[in-house]
Amino acid sequence: MDELDVVVIGGGTGGYTAAIRVTQLGLTAALVERDKVGGTCLHRGCIPTKVWLHSAQTLVRARNAPAFGVDITGDVGLNYAGMRAHQQQVVEALYSGIRGAVQKHKIEIIEGQAQIASPAEVVVGDRHLRARNIVLATGSEPRDIPGLKADGDRILSSDHILQIEEPPRSIIIVGAGAIGCEFASFFADIGTKVTLLEMLPFCVPLEDTDAGRLLGKSFASRGVNVMTSAKIFTDRTRSYDGVVELTVEHDGAEKQVTGEKVLVAVGRQAVTDGLGLEKTKVQLDRGWIQVDEAYRTSEPTVYAVGDAIGGLLLAHVAGAEGFIAAEAIASKAPEKLDYTRVPRVTYSRPQVAAVGLTEAQATEQGLNAKSTRFSLKYNAIALIHGETEGFAKIVYDKDTGDFLGATLVGEDVADLISEAALARFLQSSAWEVGANIHPHPSMSEALGEAAQLSSEISIYW
Ligand code: NAI
Repeated sequence: MDELDVVVIGGGTGGYTAAIRVTQLGLTAALVERDKVGGTCLHRGCIPTKVWLHSAQTLVRARNAPAFGVDITGDVGLNYAGMRAHQQQVVEALYSGIRGAVQKHKIEIIEGQAQIASPAEVVVGDRHLRARNIVLATGSEPRDIPGLKADGDRILSSDHILQIEEPPRSIIIVGAGAIGCEFASFFADIGTKVTLLEMLPFCVPLEDTDAGRLLGKSFASRGVNVMTSAKIFTDRTRSYDGVVELTVEHDGAEKQVTGEKVLVAVGRQAVTDGLGLEKTKVQLDRGWIQVDEAYRTSEPTVYAVGDAIGGLLLAHVAGAEGFIAAEAIASKAPEKLDYTRVPRVTYSRPQVAAVGLTEAQATEQGLNAKSTRFSLKYNAIALIHGETEGFAKIVYDKDTGDFLGATLVGEDVADLISEAALARFLQSSAWEVGANIHPHPSMSEALGEAAQLSSEISIYW
Protein backbone atom coordinates (compact mmCIF):
# COMPACT_ATOMS: atom_id res chain seq x y z
CA MET A 1 0.00 0.00 0.00
CA ASP A 2 1.41 3.42 -1.03
CA GLU A 3 0.86 6.21 1.50
CA LEU A 4 0.34 9.71 0.06
CA ASP A 5 -1.01 13.03 1.21
CA VAL A 6 -3.04 13.53 -1.95
CA VAL A 7 -4.22 11.32 -4.80
CA VAL A 8 -5.56 13.29 -7.76
CA ILE A 9 -7.84 11.38 -10.13
CA GLY A 10 -7.69 12.85 -13.64
CA GLY A 11 -4.69 14.50 -15.26
CA GLY A 12 -6.34 17.39 -17.10
CA THR A 13 -5.74 21.05 -16.31
CA GLY A 14 -7.59 20.92 -12.98
CA GLY A 15 -5.89 17.71 -11.89
CA TYR A 16 -2.28 18.49 -12.74
CA THR A 17 -2.58 22.01 -11.32
CA ALA A 18 -3.89 20.63 -8.01
CA ALA A 19 -1.17 17.96 -7.90
CA ILE A 20 1.65 20.42 -8.63
CA ARG A 21 0.36 23.00 -6.13
CA VAL A 22 0.06 20.53 -3.23
CA THR A 23 3.66 19.37 -3.78
CA GLN A 24 4.81 23.02 -3.91
CA LEU A 25 3.21 23.32 -0.48
CA GLY A 26 5.20 20.38 0.87
CA LEU A 27 2.73 17.50 0.45
CA THR A 28 3.18 14.27 -1.51
CA ALA A 29 0.90 13.54 -4.45
CA ALA A 30 0.19 11.01 -7.20
CA LEU A 31 -1.79 11.65 -10.36
CA VAL A 32 -3.96 8.87 -11.76
CA GLU A 33 -4.80 9.09 -15.47
CA ARG A 34 -6.44 6.46 -17.68
CA ASP A 35 -5.62 8.19 -20.95
CA LYS A 36 -3.08 11.00 -21.35
CA VAL A 37 -2.00 13.75 -18.99
CA GLY A 38 -3.24 17.03 -20.44
CA GLY A 39 -6.85 15.88 -20.64
CA THR A 40 -9.61 17.19 -22.86
CA CYS A 41 -8.08 20.63 -23.35
CA LEU A 42 -4.79 19.36 -24.75
CA HIS A 43 -5.88 16.26 -26.62
CA ARG A 44 -9.53 16.74 -27.64
CA GLY A 45 -10.46 20.34 -26.95
CA CYS A 46 -8.94 23.80 -26.71
CA ILE A 47 -5.59 23.06 -28.33
CA PRO A 48 -6.45 20.95 -31.41
CA THR A 49 -9.46 23.14 -32.21
CA LYS A 50 -7.38 26.31 -32.00
CA VAL A 51 -4.86 24.75 -34.39
CA TRP A 52 -7.69 24.07 -36.85
CA LEU A 53 -9.09 27.59 -36.45
CA HIS A 54 -5.66 29.11 -36.98
CA SER A 55 -5.27 27.17 -40.24
CA ALA A 56 -8.69 28.40 -41.39
CA GLN A 57 -7.76 31.97 -40.48
CA THR A 58 -4.46 31.65 -42.33
CA LEU A 59 -6.35 30.40 -45.37
CA VAL A 60 -8.73 33.36 -45.25
CA ARG A 61 -5.81 35.76 -44.87
CA ALA A 62 -4.06 34.19 -47.83
CA ARG A 63 -7.21 34.54 -49.94
CA ASN A 64 -7.53 38.17 -48.88
CA ALA A 65 -3.84 38.94 -49.42
CA PRO A 66 -4.30 40.79 -52.75
CA ALA A 67 -6.39 43.40 -50.91
CA PHE A 68 -3.21 44.30 -48.99
CA GLY A 69 -1.00 44.46 -52.04
CA VAL A 70 0.39 40.95 -51.61
CA ASP A 71 0.15 38.72 -54.65
CA ILE A 72 -0.26 35.02 -54.02
CA THR A 73 0.10 32.81 -57.04
CA GLY A 74 -1.12 29.26 -57.46
CA ASP A 75 -3.83 27.44 -55.56
CA VAL A 76 -4.69 28.54 -52.07
CA GLY A 77 -6.44 25.81 -50.12
CA LEU A 78 -6.40 23.79 -46.95
CA ASN A 79 -3.89 20.95 -46.74
CA TYR A 80 -5.75 18.91 -44.16
CA ALA A 81 -2.85 16.50 -43.52
CA GLY A 82 -0.48 19.46 -43.09
CA MET A 83 -2.83 21.05 -40.57
CA ARG A 84 -3.03 17.77 -38.64
CA ALA A 85 0.77 17.49 -38.65
CA HIS A 86 1.00 20.97 -37.12
CA GLN A 87 -1.62 19.94 -34.55
CA GLN A 88 0.46 16.91 -33.60
CA GLN A 89 3.61 19.01 -33.17
CA VAL A 90 1.86 21.56 -30.97
CA VAL A 91 0.13 18.94 -28.83
CA GLU A 92 3.36 16.94 -28.49
CA ALA A 93 5.31 20.03 -27.35
CA LEU A 94 2.70 20.95 -24.74
CA TYR A 95 2.29 17.30 -23.66
CA SER A 96 5.99 16.99 -23.03
CA GLY A 97 5.96 20.30 -21.11
CA ILE A 98 3.17 19.12 -18.80
CA ARG A 99 4.78 15.72 -18.17
CA GLY A 100 8.06 17.52 -17.42
CA ALA A 101 6.37 19.84 -14.91
CA VAL A 102 4.66 16.92 -13.17
CA GLN A 103 7.89 14.92 -12.99
CA LYS A 104 9.86 17.93 -11.75
CA HIS A 105 7.52 18.05 -8.75
CA LYS A 106 8.14 14.33 -8.09
CA ILE A 107 4.53 13.42 -8.78
CA GLU A 108 4.09 9.85 -9.95
CA ILE A 109 1.72 9.47 -12.89
CA ILE A 110 -0.17 6.22 -12.35
CA GLU A 111 -1.74 4.96 -15.57
CA GLY A 112 -5.13 3.34 -15.33
CA GLN A 113 -8.71 3.62 -14.16
CA ALA A 114 -8.96 4.83 -10.57
CA GLN A 115 -11.57 3.40 -8.26
CA ILE A 116 -12.37 4.83 -4.88
CA ALA A 117 -12.40 2.02 -2.31
CA SER A 118 -13.06 4.31 0.67
CA PRO A 119 -12.82 8.08 1.35
CA ALA A 120 -9.09 7.52 2.00
CA GLU A 121 -8.23 4.78 -0.48
CA VAL A 122 -7.91 4.58 -4.26
CA VAL A 123 -7.28 1.41 -6.26
CA VAL A 124 -5.67 1.48 -9.72
CA GLY A 125 -5.25 -2.04 -11.11
CA ASP A 126 -3.10 -3.83 -8.56
CA ARG A 127 -1.94 -0.61 -6.87
CA HIS A 128 -3.56 0.38 -3.58
CA LEU A 129 -3.07 4.02 -2.63
CA ARG A 130 -3.89 5.36 0.82
CA ALA A 131 -4.46 9.12 0.75
CA ARG A 132 -5.24 11.75 3.32
CA ASN A 133 -7.14 13.60 0.58
CA ILE A 134 -8.52 12.67 -2.83
CA VAL A 135 -9.09 15.26 -5.57
CA LEU A 136 -11.58 14.32 -8.28
CA ALA A 137 -10.69 15.99 -11.56
CA THR A 138 -12.30 13.55 -13.96
CA GLY A 139 -13.60 16.16 -16.41
CA SER A 140 -16.51 15.94 -18.81
CA GLU A 141 -17.59 14.26 -22.03
CA PRO A 142 -19.90 15.28 -24.88
CA ARG A 143 -23.61 14.96 -24.20
CA ASP A 144 -26.12 13.47 -26.68
CA ILE A 145 -29.69 14.52 -27.24
CA PRO A 146 -32.38 11.85 -27.16
CA GLY A 147 -32.82 10.42 -30.64
CA LEU A 148 -29.54 11.83 -31.96
CA LYS A 149 -26.84 9.70 -30.43
CA ALA A 150 -23.29 10.23 -31.69
CA ASP A 151 -22.22 6.97 -33.39
CA GLY A 152 -18.81 8.09 -34.64
CA ASP A 153 -19.85 7.40 -38.24
CA ARG A 154 -22.32 10.01 -39.51
CA ILE A 155 -23.42 11.49 -36.20
CA LEU A 156 -20.36 12.84 -34.46
CA SER A 157 -19.37 14.35 -31.15
CA SER A 158 -16.57 16.93 -30.90
CA ASP A 159 -14.24 14.03 -29.96
CA HIS A 160 -15.14 12.21 -33.19
CA ILE A 161 -14.86 15.19 -35.47
CA LEU A 162 -11.24 15.80 -34.52
CA GLN A 163 -10.49 12.29 -35.84
CA ILE A 164 -12.12 12.52 -39.28
CA GLU A 165 -10.04 11.34 -42.25
CA GLU A 166 -11.00 14.33 -44.37
CA PRO A 167 -13.37 17.28 -44.07
CA PRO A 168 -16.94 16.52 -45.19
CA ARG A 169 -18.48 18.42 -48.11
CA SER A 170 -21.46 19.31 -45.95
CA ILE A 171 -22.21 19.26 -42.24
CA ILE A 172 -25.12 19.95 -39.94
CA ILE A 173 -24.02 21.35 -36.60
CA VAL A 174 -26.52 21.02 -33.75
CA GLY A 175 -25.97 23.66 -31.05
CA ALA A 176 -24.47 27.13 -31.54
CA GLY A 177 -22.58 27.33 -28.24
CA ALA A 178 -18.79 27.58 -28.11
CA ILE A 179 -18.14 24.21 -29.79
CA GLY A 180 -20.82 24.59 -32.47
CA CYS A 181 -19.72 28.11 -33.42
CA GLU A 182 -16.01 27.28 -33.52
CA PHE A 183 -16.60 24.33 -35.87
CA ALA A 184 -19.15 26.29 -37.95
CA SER A 185 -16.54 29.00 -38.43
CA PHE A 186 -13.80 26.51 -39.31
CA PHE A 187 -15.87 24.49 -41.80
CA ALA A 188 -17.36 27.60 -43.44
CA ASP A 189 -13.87 29.00 -44.01
CA ILE A 190 -12.49 25.81 -45.56
CA GLY A 191 -15.42 25.47 -47.95
CA THR A 192 -17.70 22.89 -46.29
CA LYS A 193 -21.41 23.65 -46.65
CA VAL A 194 -22.60 24.28 -43.09
CA THR A 195 -26.06 24.24 -41.52
CA LEU A 196 -26.05 25.53 -37.93
CA LEU A 197 -29.08 24.64 -35.79
CA GLU A 198 -29.70 26.36 -32.46
CA MET A 199 -32.83 26.06 -30.35
CA LEU A 200 -32.40 29.50 -28.72
CA PRO A 201 -32.82 32.79 -30.67
CA PHE A 202 -29.07 33.61 -31.03
CA CYS A 203 -25.68 32.02 -31.52
CA VAL A 204 -23.56 31.88 -28.31
CA PRO A 205 -26.83 32.40 -26.39
CA LEU A 206 -25.16 32.75 -23.00
CA GLU A 207 -23.31 35.85 -24.20
CA ASP A 208 -24.50 39.37 -24.99
CA THR A 209 -27.17 39.17 -27.70
CA ASP A 210 -25.32 41.76 -29.83
CA ALA A 211 -22.43 39.28 -30.05
CA GLY A 212 -24.66 36.38 -31.04
CA ARG A 213 -26.47 38.51 -33.61
CA LEU A 214 -23.21 39.67 -35.20
CA LEU A 215 -21.74 36.16 -35.23
CA GLY A 216 -24.89 34.78 -36.90
CA LYS A 217 -24.69 37.54 -39.52
CA SER A 218 -21.02 36.87 -40.17
CA PHE A 219 -21.64 33.13 -40.59
CA ALA A 220 -24.57 33.81 -42.93
CA SER A 221 -22.40 36.14 -45.05
CA ARG A 222 -19.96 33.23 -45.43
CA GLY A 223 -22.70 30.90 -46.70
CA VAL A 224 -23.68 29.19 -43.46
CA ASN A 225 -27.35 28.31 -43.20
CA VAL A 226 -27.92 29.67 -39.69
CA MET A 227 -31.22 28.47 -38.20
CA THR A 228 -31.84 29.82 -34.71
CA SER A 229 -35.02 29.19 -32.63
CA ALA A 230 -35.00 25.83 -34.41
CA LYS A 231 -36.62 22.67 -33.12
CA ILE A 232 -35.34 19.33 -34.37
CA PHE A 233 -37.70 16.36 -34.71
CA THR A 234 -35.06 13.77 -33.88
CA ASP A 235 -37.46 10.86 -34.43
CA ARG A 236 -37.66 11.83 -38.12
CA THR A 237 -33.93 11.58 -38.81
CA ARG A 238 -33.17 9.73 -42.08
CA SER A 239 -30.02 8.56 -43.83
CA TYR A 240 -29.78 8.13 -47.60
CA ASP A 241 -27.30 8.67 -50.49
CA GLY A 242 -24.45 9.36 -48.10
CA VAL A 243 -26.23 12.12 -46.20
CA VAL A 244 -28.20 12.48 -42.99
CA GLU A 245 -31.47 14.40 -43.19
CA LEU A 246 -32.89 16.20 -40.17
CA THR A 247 -36.41 17.61 -39.99
CA VAL A 248 -36.53 21.00 -38.30
CA GLU A 249 -39.24 23.46 -37.36
CA HIS A 250 -37.93 26.92 -38.16
CA ASP A 251 -39.60 30.27 -38.88
CA GLY A 252 -43.03 28.65 -38.53
CA ALA A 253 -42.35 26.03 -41.21
CA GLU A 254 -41.14 22.48 -41.30
CA LYS A 255 -37.88 22.11 -43.21
CA GLN A 256 -35.46 19.34 -44.14
CA VAL A 257 -31.71 19.92 -43.92
CA THR A 258 -28.99 17.50 -45.01
CA GLY A 259 -25.32 16.95 -44.37
CA GLU A 260 -22.71 14.24 -44.89
CA LYS A 261 -22.02 14.49 -41.19
CA VAL A 262 -23.90 15.80 -38.16
CA LEU A 263 -21.94 17.31 -35.29
CA VAL A 264 -23.82 17.23 -31.98
CA ALA A 265 -22.56 20.11 -29.81
CA VAL A 266 -25.28 20.55 -27.21
CA GLY A 267 -23.19 20.62 -24.06
CA ARG A 268 -21.20 18.23 -21.91
CA GLN A 269 -21.72 16.04 -18.85
CA ALA A 270 -19.51 15.12 -15.89
CA VAL A 271 -17.47 11.91 -16.01
CA THR A 272 -18.20 10.05 -12.76
CA ASP A 273 -19.24 6.55 -13.89
CA GLY A 274 -17.30 3.67 -12.39
CA LEU A 275 -15.40 5.94 -9.97
CA GLY A 276 -16.83 4.32 -6.86
CA LEU A 277 -18.49 7.47 -5.54
CA GLU A 278 -21.06 5.25 -3.82
CA LYS A 279 -18.30 4.37 -1.33
CA THR A 280 -18.28 8.03 -0.24
CA LYS A 281 -20.75 10.72 0.82
CA VAL A 282 -20.02 12.71 -2.38
CA GLN A 283 -23.24 14.16 -3.77
CA LEU A 284 -24.23 14.87 -7.35
CA ASP A 285 -26.74 17.35 -8.73
CA ARG A 286 -27.87 16.56 -12.27
CA GLY A 287 -24.67 14.57 -12.63
CA TRP A 288 -22.29 17.33 -11.47
CA ILE A 289 -20.23 16.79 -8.30
CA GLN A 290 -21.35 19.16 -5.53
CA VAL A 291 -18.64 21.18 -3.75
CA ASP A 292 -18.28 24.17 -1.41
CA GLU A 293 -16.24 27.34 -2.05
CA ALA A 294 -12.98 25.49 -1.34
CA TYR A 295 -14.04 22.63 -3.67
CA ARG A 296 -14.63 20.19 -0.82
CA THR A 297 -17.39 17.63 -1.51
CA SER A 298 -19.85 16.35 1.10
CA GLU A 299 -17.16 13.80 1.96
CA PRO A 300 -14.66 15.86 4.01
CA THR A 301 -11.50 14.18 2.66
CA VAL A 302 -12.61 14.38 -0.98
CA TYR A 303 -12.34 17.49 -3.18
CA ALA A 304 -13.48 18.00 -6.79
CA VAL A 305 -12.47 20.56 -9.42
CA GLY A 306 -12.84 21.34 -13.12
CA ASP A 307 -15.54 20.28 -15.56
CA ALA A 308 -16.79 17.50 -13.24
CA ILE A 309 -18.29 20.10 -10.88
CA GLY A 310 -20.12 21.94 -13.70
CA GLY A 311 -20.43 25.73 -14.03
CA LEU A 312 -18.03 27.24 -16.55
CA LEU A 313 -16.41 24.27 -18.34
CA LEU A 314 -13.15 26.03 -19.17
CA ALA A 315 -9.53 24.91 -18.76
CA HIS A 316 -8.48 28.15 -17.05
CA VAL A 317 -11.35 27.74 -14.58
CA ALA A 318 -10.30 24.14 -13.85
CA GLY A 319 -6.73 25.33 -13.24
CA ALA A 320 -7.87 28.09 -10.87
CA GLU A 321 -10.11 25.64 -8.99
CA GLY A 322 -7.31 23.05 -8.75
CA PHE A 323 -5.01 25.71 -7.31
CA ILE A 324 -7.56 26.76 -4.68
CA ALA A 325 -8.43 23.17 -3.72
CA ALA A 326 -4.70 22.42 -3.29
CA GLU A 327 -4.26 25.44 -1.01
CA ALA A 328 -7.31 24.41 1.02
CA ILE A 329 -5.92 20.88 1.42
CA ALA A 330 -2.65 22.42 2.64
CA SER A 331 -4.64 24.56 5.12
CA LYS A 332 -3.81 27.82 3.36
CA ALA A 333 -7.32 29.38 3.63
CA PRO A 334 -7.44 30.47 -0.04
CA GLU A 335 -9.69 33.25 -1.26
CA LYS A 336 -12.76 31.99 -3.11
CA LEU A 337 -12.92 32.34 -6.88
CA ASP A 338 -15.15 35.13 -8.19
CA TYR A 339 -16.53 33.62 -11.40
CA THR A 340 -17.52 37.06 -12.69
CA ARG A 341 -13.85 37.79 -13.29
CA VAL A 342 -13.31 34.72 -15.49
CA PRO A 343 -12.85 35.48 -19.20
CA ARG A 344 -14.92 33.42 -21.66
CA VAL A 345 -13.86 33.12 -25.30
CA THR A 346 -15.36 31.55 -28.40
CA TYR A 347 -12.54 31.30 -30.96
CA SER A 348 -14.72 31.58 -34.04
CA ARG A 349 -14.05 34.17 -36.75
CA PRO A 350 -14.79 36.78 -35.48
CA GLN A 351 -13.92 35.81 -31.91
CA VAL A 352 -16.26 36.56 -29.03
CA ALA A 353 -14.54 37.31 -25.71
CA ALA A 354 -16.37 38.36 -22.58
CA VAL A 355 -15.97 38.82 -18.86
CA GLY A 356 -18.35 39.72 -16.05
CA LEU A 357 -22.02 40.47 -16.47
CA THR A 358 -23.89 41.19 -19.66
CA GLU A 359 -26.28 44.14 -19.50
CA ALA A 360 -29.26 41.77 -19.27
CA GLN A 361 -27.69 39.81 -16.40
CA ALA A 362 -26.79 42.99 -14.50
CA THR A 363 -30.32 44.37 -14.92
CA GLU A 364 -31.74 41.06 -13.73
CA GLN A 365 -29.63 41.42 -10.58
CA GLY A 366 -31.36 44.74 -9.89
CA LEU A 367 -28.40 46.93 -10.87
CA ASN A 368 -28.89 50.20 -12.75
CA ALA A 369 -26.90 48.74 -15.65
CA LYS A 370 -25.96 50.73 -18.74
CA SER A 371 -23.75 49.85 -21.68
CA THR A 372 -21.67 51.65 -24.27
CA ARG A 373 -20.36 50.23 -27.52
CA PHE A 374 -17.53 51.16 -29.85
CA SER A 375 -17.51 49.73 -33.37
CA LEU A 376 -14.31 48.36 -34.90
CA LYS A 377 -15.21 50.35 -38.04
CA TYR A 378 -13.53 53.30 -36.30
CA ASN A 379 -10.49 51.41 -35.01
CA ALA A 380 -7.29 52.02 -36.98
CA ILE A 381 -5.80 48.54 -36.65
CA ALA A 382 -9.09 46.87 -37.56
CA LEU A 383 -9.17 49.02 -40.71
CA ILE A 384 -5.53 48.22 -41.52
CA HIS A 385 -6.22 44.49 -41.13
CA GLY A 386 -9.50 44.74 -43.04
CA GLU A 387 -11.21 43.14 -40.02
CA THR A 388 -13.78 45.75 -39.00
CA GLU A 389 -16.51 43.25 -38.16
CA GLY A 390 -16.94 43.60 -34.40
CA PHE A 391 -17.13 45.92 -31.44
CA ALA A 392 -16.17 46.51 -27.84
CA LYS A 393 -19.06 46.85 -25.41
CA ILE A 394 -18.81 47.57 -21.74
CA VAL A 395 -21.43 47.31 -19.02
CA TYR A 396 -21.29 49.57 -16.00
CA ASP A 397 -23.35 50.57 -13.00
CA LYS A 398 -24.84 54.00 -13.69
CA ASP A 399 -25.15 54.73 -9.94
CA THR A 400 -21.65 53.76 -8.79
CA GLY A 401 -19.66 53.88 -12.03
CA ASP A 402 -18.47 50.29 -11.36
CA PHE A 403 -17.17 48.35 -14.34
CA LEU A 404 -19.41 45.26 -14.49
CA GLY A 405 -18.30 43.49 -17.64
CA ALA A 406 -17.25 43.63 -21.27
CA THR A 407 -17.94 41.83 -24.52
CA LEU A 408 -15.47 42.08 -27.37
CA VAL A 409 -16.15 40.76 -30.85
CA GLY A 410 -13.47 40.84 -33.53
CA GLU A 411 -10.17 39.47 -34.74
CA ASP A 412 -8.01 37.95 -31.96
CA VAL A 413 -9.99 39.66 -29.17
CA ALA A 414 -9.16 36.69 -26.89
CA ASP A 415 -5.87 38.47 -26.28
CA LEU A 416 -7.63 41.72 -25.32
CA ILE A 417 -10.12 40.45 -22.75
CA SER A 418 -7.50 40.11 -19.99
CA GLU A 419 -7.48 43.88 -19.51
CA ALA A 420 -11.20 43.79 -18.78
CA ALA A 421 -10.68 40.72 -16.55
CA LEU A 422 -8.01 42.59 -14.59
CA ALA A 423 -10.39 45.55 -14.27
CA ARG A 424 -12.96 43.19 -12.74
CA PHE A 425 -10.33 41.67 -10.43
CA LEU A 426 -9.23 45.11 -9.23
CA GLN A 427 -12.87 46.23 -8.94
CA SER A 428 -12.18 49.16 -11.26
CA SER A 429 -14.63 51.76 -12.36
CA ALA A 430 -15.54 52.18 -16.03
CA TRP A 431 -13.80 55.57 -15.86
CA GLU A 432 -10.53 53.86 -14.86
CA VAL A 433 -10.70 51.52 -17.85
CA GLY A 434 -11.30 54.54 -20.11
CA ALA A 435 -8.57 56.64 -18.49
CA ASN A 436 -6.07 53.79 -18.82
CA ILE A 437 -3.74 54.65 -21.73
CA HIS A 438 -4.00 52.31 -24.70
CA PRO A 439 -1.30 52.17 -27.38
CA HIS A 440 -2.18 53.71 -30.71
CA PRO A 441 -2.86 52.18 -33.10
CA SER A 442 -4.09 48.98 -31.48
CA MET A 443 -7.24 46.94 -31.16
CA SER A 444 -7.11 47.50 -27.40
CA GLU A 445 -8.14 51.10 -28.00
CA ALA A 446 -11.68 49.87 -28.76
CA LEU A 447 -12.17 48.77 -25.13
CA GLY A 448 -10.79 52.10 -23.92
CA GLU A 449 -13.08 54.01 -26.29
CA ALA A 450 -16.17 52.10 -25.11
CA ALA A 451 -15.22 52.82 -21.48
CA GLN A 452 -14.58 56.50 -22.27
CA LEU A 453 -18.04 56.77 -23.82
CA SER A 454 -19.54 55.50 -20.55
CA SER A 455 -17.85 58.16 -18.45
CA GLU A 456 -18.24 61.07 -20.88
CA ILE A 457 -14.49 61.48 -21.38
CA SER A 458 -14.57 60.43 -25.02
CA ILE A 459 -13.73 62.72 -27.90
CA TYR A 460 -16.53 60.93 -29.77
CA TRP A 461 -19.02 61.87 -27.06
P1 NAI B 1 -22.78 24.95 -24.82
O1 NAI B 1 -23.60 24.68 -23.63
O2 NAI B 1 -21.85 26.09 -24.86
O3 NAI B 1 -23.75 25.14 -26.08
C1 NAI B 1 -24.72 24.19 -26.45
C2 NAI B 1 -25.74 24.85 -27.35
O4 NAI B 1 -26.61 23.87 -27.86
C3 NAI B 1 -26.60 25.87 -26.61
O5 NAI B 1 -26.58 27.07 -27.33
C4 NAI B 1 -27.96 25.21 -26.58
O6 NAI B 1 -29.01 26.16 -26.62
C5 NAI B 1 -27.94 24.37 -27.85
N1 NAI B 1 -28.83 23.22 -27.84
C6 NAI B 1 -29.04 22.34 -26.81
N2 NAI B 1 -29.92 21.40 -27.20
C7 NAI B 1 -30.28 21.67 -28.48
C8 NAI B 1 -31.15 21.07 -29.43
N3 NAI B 1 -31.86 19.97 -29.11
N4 NAI B 1 -31.27 21.63 -30.64
C9 NAI B 1 -30.55 22.74 -30.97
N5 NAI B 1 -29.72 23.36 -30.11
C10 NAI B 1 -29.58 22.83 -28.89
O7 NAI B 1 -22.07 23.56 -25.14
P2 NAI B 1 -20.91 23.18 -26.17
O8 NAI B 1 -20.77 24.18 -27.25
O9 NAI B 1 -21.20 21.77 -26.52
O10 NAI B 1 -19.63 23.27 -25.28
C11 NAI B 1 -19.51 22.46 -24.10
C12 NAI B 1 -18.72 23.17 -23.05
O11 NAI B 1 -17.38 23.29 -23.42
C13 NAI B 1 -19.25 24.57 -22.78
O12 NAI B 1 -19.38 24.78 -21.40
C14 NAI B 1 -18.21 25.47 -23.35
O13 NAI B 1 -18.06 26.67 -22.63
C15 NAI B 1 -16.94 24.62 -23.29
N6 NAI B 1 -16.11 25.00 -24.41
C16 NAI B 1 -15.39 26.14 -24.34
C17 NAI B 1 -14.67 26.56 -25.42
C18 NAI B 1 -13.92 27.83 -25.33
O14 NAI B 1 -13.74 28.35 -24.25
N7 NAI B 1 -13.47 28.37 -26.43
C19 NAI B 1 -14.62 25.82 -26.66
C20 NAI B 1 -15.42 24.67 -26.63
C21 NAI B 1 -16.14 24.28 -25.54
